[in-house]
Amino acid sequence: MQNFTFQNPTKLVFGKGEIARLAKLVPADAKVMMTYGGGSIFKNGIYEQVKEALVNHNVTEFGGIEPNPEYNTLMRCVVECKSKGVDFLLAVGGGSVIDGTKFIATALKWEGDPWEFMIKPGITHSAVPLASVLTLPATGSEMNNGAVVSRRERNEKFAFHNPACFPVFSILDPTAIYSLPAKQVANGIIDTFAHTLEQYLTFDNKALIQDYWAEGILKTLIEIAPKLMENQQDYDTCANFMYAATMGLNGFIAMGVAQDWATHMIGHELTALHGLDHGVTLAIVHPGVMSVMREAKWTKLVQYAERVFGITKGTDLEKIEGAINATEQFYRSLGVATRLGEHNIGEATIAEIVRRFTERGALLGEGGIVTPEKVGEILNRVK
Ligand code: NZQ
Ligand code: ZN
Repeated sequence: MQNFTFQNPTKLVFGKGEIARLAKLVPADAKVMMTYGGGSIFKNGIYEQVKEALVNHNVTEFGGIEPNPEYNTLMRCVVECKSKGVDFLLAVGGGSVIDGTKFIATALKWEGDPWEFMIKPGITHSAVPLASVLTLPATGSEMNNGAVVSRRERNEKFAFHNPACFPVFSILDPTAIYSLPAKQVANGIIDTFAHTLEQYLTFDNKALIQDYWAEGILKTLIEIAPKLMENQQDYDTCANFMYAATMGLNGFIAMGVAQDWATHMIGHELTALHGLDHGVTLAIVHPGVMSVMREAKWTKLVQYAERVFGITKGTDLEKIEGAINATEQFYRSLGVATRLGEHNIGEATIAEIVRRFTERGALLGEGGIVTPEKVGEILNRVK
């Protein structure tokens, strides 16, 4: 097991009816900016619940944060927050709203052009305190310090991490996801599955607890996925989904192990260039990464095959191929197309992504083993 330091300050408030707790959780004297997306919270009653809980607070609102939150939209909110003296941000939505709010929180304390901290990895900078009411389990943004922001005029999408961006608290009410479109349920399952694999499927770190935790999340998702696709309003199924997504990317399974993230980095380029949903990009890229990088991931791929999919017969190679195939079939069972060609993406995009990573000198994956050349191989594998 590798050395690690772990600290996660986010208070999780989980369960039916817990949105009402906002009344006490948000500081009484705060000037609150409530942020949200394109309006789903008006249709499912979440907006009313939040407003009712905050009836005695000083709250202004900023809506319209889009999926894959856009820099220009977020900058408009920064201007509004400054003019109103906002000192507490409350994100009500999915990963895009929470990520966008983390960007706003950091930009409010940043001197100069905020895009600088997007392209400068590893910043530690103060931020306005933020909290969240989660409406879409997927990103883990509700309990981590990362955010991903897009800049469409440049076809760019970058991630940043800021220790000051852990939400102060996050409220997870599983009934808030009853209204999710099936497509977003699928995206959320795939994103959570992929987050877990990014932290699990590297080499043997001799980290037994982290491996069993990760396998627990993967097996939970495989078990609940058909139930969720069939009935999206079963409380306990939704609760397990929501908790799995949070545990998939809140630092727990990352303690003491190597991490990959090549699938995510390549996926972000597909979103930047073609606007594909984040989850969809992962369903395409992940089987390619497993296949091309299988020598380096050999031991863990065999373990994944045996323990997660129960593939115990055959040679190690057969088990690995079985697991890669089972992963792709799992994604397809959620109604997601897993090949570039099915999204009309071809050679030109593959070449452009390889060009971008070459220009940035990017070495992805655990230990930088995924070179731009390998990225090309991976994308060609999933044509
Ligand atoms: O905008 P509204 O109207 O709210 O609708 C949203 C949006 O259209 C809708 N939705 C959310 N909750 C709903 C709902 N519709 C009905 N009922 C509800 N309860 O779902 C759509 C997608 O929302 P979005 O927030 O974009 O989805 P997600 O949570 O998957 O977030 C994706 C973004 O997060 C980034 C992705 O790259 C992408 O930009 N990620 C953030 C990470 C992090 N912060 O750690 C890690 C991830 O790997 C990921 O990269
Ligand atoms: Zn993700």
